[in-house]
Amino acid sequence: MTSTNPVPAHPEAIFTYGAPQLKFGPGASDEIGFDLSQYGVSRALVVTDPGVAATGTPQRVADQMARFGIEARVFDGVHVEPTDESMNAAIGFARDSGPWDAFVAVGGGSSIDTAKAINLLLTNPGGLMDYINAPVGQGRAPVNPLKPLVAVPTTTGTGAESTTVCVLDVLSLRVKTGISHARLRPALAVVDPLLTLTQPAGVTASAGMDILCHALESYTARWYTSNERKQPEQRVPYCGANPVSDMWSEKAMSLLATSFRTAVRHGDDEQARADMAIAATFAGMGFGNAGVHIPHANAYPIAGRVSGFHPKDYPADEAMVPHGMSVALTAPEAFRFTFDAAPERHLRAARLLAPDAEQPPDPAEFLPAVLSELMRDIEIPNGVAAVGYARADIPALVEGTLQQQRLLATSPKPVTGDDLAGIFERSLELW
Ligand SMILES: NC(=O)c1ccc[n+]([C@@H]2O[C@H](COP(=O)([O-])OP(=O)(O)OC[C@H]3O[C@@H](n4cnc5c(N)ncnc54)[C@H](O)[C@@H]3O)[C@@H](O)[C@H]2O)c1
Ligand SMILES: [Zn+2]
Repeated sequence: MTSTNPVPAHPEAIFTYGAPQLKFGPGASDEIGFDLSQYGVSRALVVTDPGVAATGTPQRVADQMARFGIEARVFDGVHVEPTDESMNAAIGFARDSGPWDAFVAVGGGSSIDTAKAINLLLTNPGGLMDYINAPVGQGRAPVNPLKPLVAVPTTTGTGAESTTVCVLDVLSLRVKTGISHARLRPALAVVDPLLTLTQPAGVTASAGMDILCHALESYTARWYTSNERKQPEQRVPYCGANPVSDMWSEKAMSLLATSFRTAVRHGDDEQARADMAIAATFAGMGFGNAGVHIPHANAYPIAGRVSGFHPKDYPADEAMVPHGMSVALTAPEAFRFTFDAAPERHLRAARLLAPDAEQPPDPAEFLPAVLSELMRDIEIPNGVAAVGYARADIPALVEGTLQQQRLLATSPKPVTGDDLAGIFERSLELW
């Protein structure tokens, strides 16, 4: 039987859209010194991780500043998939070497999110836990404005340069969670596809699945008018699918259809890299306003409870399931589950992602089949078992997902613990 979200007594009539200033194109990162000078900045901290630092890009960005009278320093201590400990260390470094009047994040979501946390805690009182979403943290709102943050993505994935979110692992609780507030959004996103040419194939595949799931989840998110009407002070950045987020999501899916496989297999293909970079930005602008649902909610415990998995092309020193991979692993089953809540949207998405594919006799199978085939082609592991989980782990995974109520609330239909257990069970092996 199809379960549907309850009909609201006072339907929402309003949606919101927020985005940073954007500068896009090959060579855009050569103009950051000038751009920062427009904010009247005199000291800027460039935030990155060791892998991105090794490409030379962060130092090149820092070296442009002197010409504009800006003193710049590179901090390359970001942890790939940041934790509360790594963010506190970065905040401590920034505090001790400050004051800073702007931040420049050069890297993937890990670097951009760490820079968001530094910016928040250097301008506002308290510690990370005060701002982390409830119930894990206090969910407080910043009281002071933040400094300008320029976000320069070097992966094609998270869209973190557009969003109001900062994701981290709270080590003591073994839980991944986040901080979300409009003030965290970067002032300027500088998207230079040339910076992504060195992105390894494994990172391109995983981060690309993140783009795909951002687009698909926001496209299938519950429609904004299906929520109860909010008061102005209750509005959050994620407001459900709406006409503006739909546009970004559809366009992102079309770009993925032409360029995702090529970008993974031929990393030096500049057109494919540019398509992936703009797809990531588009999907970020979509999901950053609409929200994501079941695959992202499931990803938190999949990534947070990992014990022995070491993905290709990521730092080898610790076990991890990279964000995009953790999101992708239950996506085919999640979209099989949500199909009946919005069949036409699932079919349209499958068609956008695979214009030449033949639709299977059961329409509910179309999108899962398109996703599984893509994942197999780009060497995403074959299901949750392939990253180390067994049937016996499912109750703990479900419990972790149920803590992500903020995300599950965006699902196009209600989802119970039993529904999630079924999704995990059928995701143990995908093909
Ligand atoms: N804030 C948001 O809106 C948001 C959204 C989705 C995900 N996230 C978070 O972002 C993080 C994942 O970010 P990501 O997928 O962009 O990857 P990442 O920042 O974790 O980087 C992955 C790896 O790729 C390397 N790398 C990155 N760019 C490179 C380049 N151009 N050349 C060579 N190596 C390169 C890095 O050194 C690192 O080892 C996770 O913590 C995830 O939870 C945040
Ligand atoms: Zn994501």
